[in-house]
Amino acid sequence: MRDAAPKTIYLSDYKPFGYDVDAVELTFDLQPNATRVKSRVAFVPKPEADGSFFLHGEQLKLISAQIDGRPVSPELSEQGLSCQVPQTPFVWEAEVEIDPAHNTALEGLYMSNGMYCTQCEAEGFRKITYYPDRPDVMSVFTVHINGPHPVLLSNGNPVTRGDGFAEWHDPWPKPAYLFALVAGDLVAHPDDFTTKSGRKVDLNLYVRPGDEGKCAFGMQALKASMAWDEEEYGREYDLDIFNIVAVDDFNMGAMENKGLNVFNSSAVLASPETATDMNFERIEAIIAHEYFHNWTGNRITCRDWFQLCLKEGLTVYRDSQFTSDMRSAAVKRIRDVIDLRGRQFAEDQGPLAHPVRPESFQEINNFYTATVYEKGAEVIGMLRRLVGADAYSKAVDLYFERHDGQACTIEDWLKVFEDATGRNLDQFKLWYSQAGTPRLTMKEAWDKGTYTLQFTQKLKPSETTPDPQPQVIPIVAGLLFPSGKEAVSDQVLELTEATQSFSFEGLKERPIPSVLRGFSAPVVLENTLTPEHAAFLLAHDTDPFNRWEAGRSLAKANLLNMIRNGSEPDESYLSGLGTVLADRSLDPSYRALMLGLPSQSDLATALFDAGDVPDPDAIWTACETMGHAQAGHLKDILPILFEENQVAEAYAPNADQSGRRSLANASLWLLSLTDGLDRARAQFETADNMTQQLTALSVLLRAQDGASELRAFETQWSSDRLVMDKWFALQVVQAPPAEVSATALALTAHADFNWKNPNRFRAVFGALASHHPGFHSASGAGYNLLADWLIKLDPINPQTTARMCAVFQTWRRYDTGRQAHARAALDRMLAVSDLSRDTTEMLERIRGDSI
Ligand code: BES
Ligand code: ZN
Repeated sequence: MRDAAPKTIYLSDYKPFGYDVDAVELTFDLQPNATRVKSRVAFVPKPEADGSFFLHGEQLKLISAQIDGRPVSPELSEQGLSCQVPQTPFVWEAEVEIDPAHNTALEGLYMSNGMYCTQCEAEGFRKITYYPDRPDVMSVFTVHINGPHPVLLSNGNPVTRGDGFAEWHDPWPKPAYLFALVAGDLVAHPDDFTTKSGRKVDLNLYVRPGDEGKCAFGMQALKASMAWDEEEYGREYDLDIFNIVAVDDFNMGAMENKGLNVFNSSAVLASPETATDMNFERIEAIIAHEYFHNWTGNRITCRDWFQLCLKEGLTVYRDSQFTSDMRSAAVKRIRDVIDLRGRQFAEDQGPLAHPVRPESFQEINNFYTATVYEKGAEVIGMLRRLVGADAYSKAVDLYFERHDGQACTIEDWLKVFEDATGRNLDQFKLWYSQAGTPRLTMKEAWDKGTYTLQFTQKLKPSETTPDPQPQVIPIVAGLLFPSGKEAVSDQVLELTEATQSFSFEGLKERPIPSVLRGFSAPVVLENTLTPEHAAFLLAHDTDPFNRWEAGRSLAKANLLNMIRNGSEPDESYLSGLGTVLADRSLDPSYRALMLGLPSQSDLATALFDAGDVPDPDAIWTACETMGHAQAGHLKDILPILFEENQVAEAYAPNADQSGRRSLANASLWLLSLTDGLDRARAQFETADNMTQQLTALSVLLRAQDGASELRAFETQWSSDRLVMDKWFALQVVQAPPAEVSATALALTAHADFNWKNPNRFRAVFGALASHHPGFHSASGAGYNLLADWLIKLDPINPQTTARMCAVFQTWRRYDTGRQAHARAALDRMLAVSDLSRDTTEMLERIRGDSI
């Protein structure tokens, strides 16, 4: 539905709903084009309420409405209805008709491959029936489903089931956004789990017939998550049954509906032949994430959508703790920081910058961002670092005890920490209200055995944060002696002032600092590492994150010099790298990360930060040159690393095996630059798993020598949609910069390019946008092609369109020619009549209309 005048919603306007909802009963008569939904809702007026009564409802055909059994004629608008109601408890009943078969937006009740499913977060329930669709209205739901499908599911526990009907009851009060319904011809992969207190829980993973062989890993991940949440947070599951359903058409990764999680099939289905190691790791994390929401999100939910980070930041933090425990903590931290810098720092630097808790929005779907999620998780990590692990546990226990069954705010969350620790968190709260990435500079001083570190913090004023104040920044620091021995082990330095010093006394020798260990705060540390200092930390740091960071900063400084003044790859970086790679005491996956270079968009960010205009072609060339320099310098060790990290055992997606494969495959990449393609071709021929097969194919395509393998791959996998998504994406990702847009365009003509499926659309256009010189081509071809397709997608799926618009957020960084092309593409999209509210908001913010 299009709104003529999009309205801005403000946190400061929050008002509670005027009624409690005692109980909700829903009856669905499923029909593809005319599903009937009957609702029966018991409202109890609150004494302080003003008597007005508004229910959200969009794109609904109202059939009938009654209050206490008597027909009423509510006043209808595009957003919902209002009605005269009694000032005493009353029962609202309504019947509406909806059209799931034509719901291409994939929000509300829709159909995917003949199956019915729902997506209600954030505001999709209002497309199912009239209701107070806001997270602070929590109630107990009973759901009857009538339909001919073998599987009929909803939230909670099953009550009855017969031919053509089922009834479900969820005893836990919940907001409407956690409602879910699924109906279809599905098969279950069943299992069970017994909780710590002895409750036996039935578990099912429901999939389309044919996908049964891709369920085992997801189910194991679910059981591991359930056990972990009991062990680490003391949280047990609270229903008799937990169902997960895999859906092919889904805007997001997955959704935590109470007792009935719905997953994008790409986020849950996996087998060794069809999924890569990275896919397995992501699936494990998403299953954990959605499961963990059962407590952080469902039992305790958000008062309003401004508090989104209350559930998302905390749950991302919890899933990252889980992954660290299941796999390598150092590797997980490094990957998270790469991701944070690549997505969140870019967001903070551009027109979409906003605080972790925004104070206004037009379309809430546009605020499921890296800032709310990833910076939101970093904020929790900092809180834990500041108060310590024990106090963190006590505070979180208090949170569950005090707020179970409630819809809460960030203030409630911080208060449990204040009460549990006696600490004042007023200044810490700035992390939730100030947008932007703080920048730190560091100065050292050495005076007769006393070593002093002085830090200065700066935050650039921005639209949402015009007058930034100093934040509390936990800087974990250690000191090393020149021998490499640790002089002072990890300490948390609490930086609270704009400039502040920390002294260490009684040192025999001047130490070398290692600061921001483990990336203890989401900040940019400026100009602190000289090349000598970085080389020393690369060789000696006892903190695995900072050791990696030292290598990365050497590589980055070197690349920036190469881009700016054509200097050569630096021998000292390359030889430091060689030493680390040869160190067999280090985990192979950690060594593989050491080989990685900063992403091209990170280099563009760094150049822009320093006041330069990034040239995507020069960045690309520098990275190519550096890759060749690595390959040349490491030519003796690479064949050894490749051989000794081959996995002989049967494939398993665990940390050990996937780490070995990642080092062998990183070696294969570099070897292909200097030593031919035989290894890659052999690996493609003999691979018995997708990680090996896809890497080999990538290497061949990148060398522009993989046409026959590409065809063989297509023939082998043409009936597997998840593998075909990889086939589509890979060709764009590995195309030479000048051919990226043409490759993407050609793929849109492929018979299997179903652009209405978000996964397939993202496979091609997500890949286009991620190709730095390809998307930011000086010709404007990348911007234009994406704009064409976003214009086409918007009318059928505003949410996915709007999310993809974010790739334009960096447009002002580039030269005037590229800016003109980007601007024209943004203008062209914004000129479309009837553009959705979601997409309009994103494009206007990106174009800078509000500045
Ligand atoms: N609650 C979200 C799903 C969601 C997002 C619903 C946006 C409606 C709008 C879910 O818990 C989630 O965060 N999913 C992530 C994956 C997760 C591992 C970060 C996703 O879908 O990408
Ligand atoms: Zn989530």
